[in-house]
Amino acid sequence: MKEKKQIRIGMVGYKFMGKAHSHAFRDLPFYFDTDVIPVLQAIAGRDEQGVKEAAQKMGWASYETDWRRLIERDDIDVIDIVTPNNTHAEIAIAAAKAGKHIICEKPLALTLEQSLEMLEAVKRAGVVHMICHNYRFAPAVQFAKQLIAQGRLGKIYHIRATFLQDWLMDPNFPLIWRLKKEVSGSGTHGDLGAHIIDLARFLVGEFREVVGMMETFIKKRPLGDMDIHLKGRVEGTAWGEVDVDDASAFLARFENGALGVFEVSRFSRGNRAGNRFEINGERGSIRWDMENMNNLQVYLEDDERGLQGFRTINCTEVEHPYASAYWPAGHIIGYEHTFINLLVEMMNGIAGGYSPSPNFEDGVRNQAVLEAVERSVQTGGWVSISEVLPSVQVQSR
Ligand SMILES: NC(=O)c1ccc[n+]([C@@H]2O[C@H](COP(=O)([O-])OP(=O)(O)OC[C@H]3O[C@@H](n4cnc5c(N)ncnc54)[C@H](O)[C@@H]3O)[C@@H](O)[C@H]2O)c1
Repeated sequence: MKEKKQIRIGMVGYKFMGKAHSHAFRDLPFYFDTDVIPVLQAIAGRDEQGVKEAAQKMGWASYETDWRRLIERDDIDVIDIVTPNNTHAEIAIAAAKAGKHIICEKPLALTLEQSLEMLEAVKRAGVVHMICHNYRFAPAVQFAKQLIAQGRLGKIYHIRATFLQDWLMDPNFPLIWRLKKEVSGSGTHGDLGAHIIDLARFLVGEFREVVGMMETFIKKRPLGDMDIHLKGRVEGTAWGEVDVDDASAFLARFENGALGVFEVSRFSRGNRAGNRFEINGERGSIRWDMENMNNLQVYLEDDERGLQGFRTINCTEVEHPYASAYWPAGHIIGYEHTFINLLVEMMNGIAGGYSPSPNFEDGVRNQAVLEAVERSVQTGGWVSISEVLPSVQVQSR
């Protein structure tokens, strides 16, 4: 059997997303027969003891204490960016200049302007690029896309989507990086909103205009950090200002005439990862809930009268996207597999010399929606996407 080409990964950051990506790179060749296979070559982090332990635990061959060193190494083919949002642009632009392919966590950048610089850098360098909107890669969401593309729902009229959490409700929860604008860009808006904007772009199409509102319920918090289980740890006695949103909501019109209602919050008691959407078309509807991610609820108007109703499809049959790589029907997969499925596309893109969607262009378009909502919150009126993102800058696909 011919040896497969190895794609040597260098990952920057090693906490929540570091764990998800490390697992996905490790397990990908176990499930999928891609033309090229990832190798966990090196990770970078600033604290030597921490990065060394992470490398050992997660199976990386080596480590660096400065991401610049990782980018300089000629035994690295891909840079994987799993650090806070304020670091994405600098790392991605340096990686592109060094000719590395890039997978970057979402949101792509702090601002639309920064995301455009990142897109420019990867295009100029001719490297493969992707952004990690992993929820698209749940088989049920991919199946929803197929049903829509086949016209099974007919013309799409509505999408309503939420991403609701409740881990921030304690007023003494610390001021982590996600609550500082200079590090995160925005609060729930860019963190959770970016995900449901991506799902809407994937399933419904491009946004035309938006109008939004945002609120910061708790304006000061003690300084500190949190672990990957979203448990806070106050450090010292100092407090600081929260300068991002705790909740954000907006209405949208799409280019194809559909209407959208979007809501994200970290103050929705009882909701841990309430990433849900419902789409209504002229001939049918679909519903998805991330906490029950293998299932897609489908209503088809063509069903016989009296038998009409939402049916629950467990998307684990060989007919469902990505499902045949895993287990017999009914044997469900989980959150971590969405990352594997996305990285399969990254490996296919590297083998074929193209940047699969979602890539940095999707990241820019997503950032444009985020920015249009923020502008609308400031002006109190509707803002069109073309106002914030002139069409000359990003080609439509
Ligand atoms: N796709 C998803 O579902 C998803 C989920 C969570 C987070 N994210 C995104 O992933 C990124 C990371 O989030 P996270 O939850 O893993 O954060 P985290 O706080 O758990 O981990 C961040 C890591 O980056 C390291 N880091 C911070 N600043 C650094 C620097 N200057 N140089 C090198 N390393 C640095 C930290 O030490 C840590 O290892 C963010 O952009 C976030 O929006 C995506």
